[in-house]
Amino acid sequence: MKKILNEMKLRLPAKSVNESVARSCISAFIAEANPTVEELCDLRCAVSEAVTNCIVHAYRDCTGEGYYIYISVRLYESREVSVEVSDNGCGIENIELARTPMFTTGEPNERCGMGFLVMDNFTDSLTVKSRVGKGTSVLMRKILSPVSTGEK
Ligand SMILES: Nc1ncnc2c1ncn2[C@@H]1O[C@H](COP(=O)(O)OP(=O)(O)OP(=O)(O)O)[C@@H](O)[C@H]1O
Ligand SMILES: [Mg+2]
Repeated sequence: MKKILNEMKLRLPAKSVNESVARSCISAFIAEANPTVEELCDLRCAVSEAVTNCIVHAYRDCTGEGYYIYISVRLYESREVSVEVSDNGCGIENIELARTPMFTTGEPNERCGMGFLVMDNFTDSLTVKSRVGKGTSVLMRKILSPVSTGEK
């Protein structure tokens, strides 16, 4: 069993203002583990992409209130960070195709189909699960480097 040092769960309405709220919360949570600036930026960026996808794609046909993004973050003793971003939106028909760089179902002038590539490149592992009409869950894991003691 991996030992959990800390964990956080967020439920945010699917509004674009919450992209930056999610980024800030993740930063504050991870900062406690003394990540490098690069590790922090990587995770912020990966989470941003996942949250944006919920707003732009998962709930694209949904109007009104009651649509949420669920974020679950864990820090393990091994310095692994796991972040799961999920929604109850439209789901993805073909995950392999969706993960192909430059594939997008979004507006061509606004989207370039690079979100999953960013999540993949900025983390150590990316698992996408989805059911059409039920929703999508994106699980990202990243191992933080050991904390430097500052000794020379
Ligand atoms: N949470 C989600 N719910 C439904 N569909 C999704 C979700 N996330 C991604 N997708 C689908 O996967 C495709 C690829 O996502 P990806 O993030 O790689 O690119 P994009 O969002 O289209 O463009 P970009 O992220 O570069 O702005 C999306 O166009 C969409 O069809
Ligand atoms: Mg995207």
